Amino acid sequence: MNFQLTEEHLAVQEAAREFANTELLPGVIERDTEAKFPTEQIKKMSELGFMGMMVDPKYNGGGMDTIAYVLAMEELSKIDASASVSMSVNNSLVCWGLEKYGTEEQKEKYLKKLATGEVLGAFCLSEPEAGSDATSQRTEATKEGDYYILNGTKNWITNGSSASVYLVIAQTDASKGHKGISVFIVEKGWEGFVIGKKEDKLGIRGSDTHSLMFTDVKVPASNRIGEEGFGFNFAMETLNGGRIGIAAQALGIAAGAYEMSVAYSKERKAFGKPISQHQAIQFKLADMATQIEAARMLVYKAAWLKDQGEDYAHASAMAKLYASEVAMNVTVEAVQVHGGYGYVKEYHVERLMRDAKITQIYEGTSEIQKIVISRGLLK
Ligand code: CAA
Repeated sequence: MNFQLTEEHLAVQEAAREFANTELLPGVIERDTEAKFPTEQIKKMSELGFMGMMVDPKYNGGGMDTIAYVLAMEELSKIDASASVSMSVNNSLVCWGLEKYGTEEQKEKYLKKLATGEVLGAFCLSEPEAGSDATSQRTEATKEGDYYILNGTKNWITNGSSASVYLVIAQTDASKGHKGISVFIVEKGWEGFVIGKKEDKLGIRGSDTHSLMFTDVKVPASNRIGEEGFGFNFAMETLNGGRIGIAAQALGIAAGAYEMSVAYSKERKAFGKPISQHQAIQFKLADMATQIEAARMLVYKAAWLKDQGEDYAHASAMAKLYASEVAMNVTVEAVQVHGGYGYVKEYHVERLMRDAKITQIYEGTSEIQKIVISRGLLK
């Protein structure tokens, strides 16, 4: 067993850390307050190769492994989880499936631009009445000659307005249950495709989350990914990898809050000494660090399994379940360590606490992760 990171991994980690501190940190509080998408920051992340890290270089990607990706996600999420969720969706939920199951034509047309970050992607599965119960898709795609006619509504779509390429899951044959669900590439600007309201959220406020409406949108049949009926399995497989990204995000949020707590506890004095010298604070820091390290092991293990070509559905669900719980626990404790300062925006930890909550909800709630894990255990 080798816990050593390679030179390449360390370089990616360092580049992401540097970028987070110099480019994401300034302005992160304003972007959160104003719910402003980090457009300039994402552009720079694209230039650094963060938007298509694992894509084959022949499609303009970075050709890196999943470990490199989680290291970058962790570092960026310490500072700005709104920027990192855009990156995670683009890498894991859009590029991955297109590369694995797209046609050469689709990869040439879409993946090459997505991998460089020239355009952003969105993954459109959730609907007003199909969240956890993802098989209950109401969005319909009806075949008419060389086209499908797409009708329906998607909800809570990350990169909702900033994306240009949307992977849309839709029912093509309601009589077949999940085997009657397909997946299509839809472009922004097509007639009948309307970007709906932006959600006003508790956390990840810089991320643009929208509803999307499709009314008689003509989608070329050549924009279907895989066979008709493959869409649900495509979505489930995609989410297995996506959950590694979100687990890394949760890990980063927790680690960011912990690092800020250590620094603060060494500076802040109470009862005649730095609060880090009080056991009440030391016990908190020890618990936080231990939970973070355990989460890190689960996240890296899931990434490693994926890189080995092993089954990682179970491991990614475990990593996301645990890392998101740790993110919530640790950020609550970080606010407590900071006392009154922790409750105000200037000290960042209240934002990390709000951001942490979404990691227990998106890409499958904690309860969904437990379903995936227990099915793996009992099969
Ligand atoms: N990996 C691979 N395949 C899977 C799978 C997994 N984790 N879970 C299910 N499947 C496959 C099954 O093998 C089965 O395939 P076959 O018929 O070919 O054998 C098929 O999917 C149907 O499986 P089930 O009968 O088990 O399906 P189910 O209706 O019981 O649902 C579920 C399973 C786990 C609850 C699933 O619906 C689920 O994961 N729900 C949560 C959806 C989710 O995560 N949504 C997040 C939205 S995206 C998002 O949040 C993005 C963002 O903005 C950041």
